[in-house]
Amino acid sequence: MSATPEVIDDPRAMRARALAWKREGRRVAFVPTMGYLHEGHLSLLREARTRGDVVVLSIFVNPTQFGPKEDLSRYPRDLAGDLAKAASAGCDVAFVPSAEAMYPPGFQTYVEPGPLATGLCGDRRPGHFRGVVTVVAKLFSLVLPDVALFGEKDYQQLRVIARMARDLDLGVEVVGCPLVREPDGLAMSSRNAYLAPDDRGRAVALSRGLFAARDAFAAGERDAAALVARARAVIDAEPAFRLDYLELRDAEELTPVGGAVTRPVVLAVAAFIGPTERPTRLIDNVVLR
Ligand code: PAJ
Repeated sequence: MSATPEVIDDPRAMRARALAWKREGRRVAFVPTMGYLHEGHLSLLREARTRGDVVVLSIFVNPTQFGPKEDLSRYPRDLAGDLAKAASAGCDVAFVPSAEAMYPPGFQTYVEPGPLATGLCGDRRPGHFRGVVTVVAKLFSLVLPDVALFGEKDYQQLRVIARMARDLDLGVEVVGCPLVREPDGLAMSSRNAYLAPDDRGRAVALSRGLFAARDAFAAGERDAAALVARARAVIDAEPAFRLDYLELRDAEELTPVGGAVTRPVVLAVAAFIGPTERPTRLIDNVVLR
């Protein structure tokens, strides 16, 4: 394993390299990210290592998936640190394009996701998933992966991307990987870096709420409203949080679930914490099956 992965920043060079791998019959496993890597990202790279001859990581803070009032300009970055971590997880090549190279003047063509991208984060962040699937389609066409790995941390994103790859016949196998948590339960996220120490402590209420619902489900509770109420009671007890949504949805179709739970479901939450003028938005989920 090399000390750092080879860095490619030019999209044309990336595609030329990918075509060479194809000719050599090498299997390409791909992990797209926005950088500021943590253990969640590294778990995807390690899984990629087991699934491909070549492991490609992309680091690109994609402007088209951020809303006008969101955190694009302050999104955390640490390329040197990311490359060292990526190497330790078995990454061969890091594709790190500039925004200008990915979206040159005149860019105007987007991929439009369907109903999976409505509700949950889709409603709260208009245009977000359109930006996500557009950049992922572009990245797929530059890296030409056989398999691409995404975290269940961003559950709706995973579903939307898997659907896009199928619908557009991209020939990429989209694989979901388990959500990685901090020791206290908080879902790992690059955005956790925004949290002041006090809020970092309080943030654990989000996962605790989800775990309360998961425990109730394990104990036999099957009423959708009761499961949501279990989680809400814990999260509401932490006044630092302002809930964005907390919903139980079908784990496959992401359609709302009411009444008795008879199929696998996902309990998904988004909440704001921190200074009112500049809160941090955290998301988390548990799958109940
Ligand atoms: P980013 O937030 O950097 O996440 C990159 C990948 O890491 C995603 O598949 C995400 O689900 C996964 N991930 C993040 N935190 C995780 C955790 N705690 N456990 C497991 N996996 C985790 O998601 C994006 O970037 C972007 O939207 C992207 C897909 C790269 C398109 O721009």
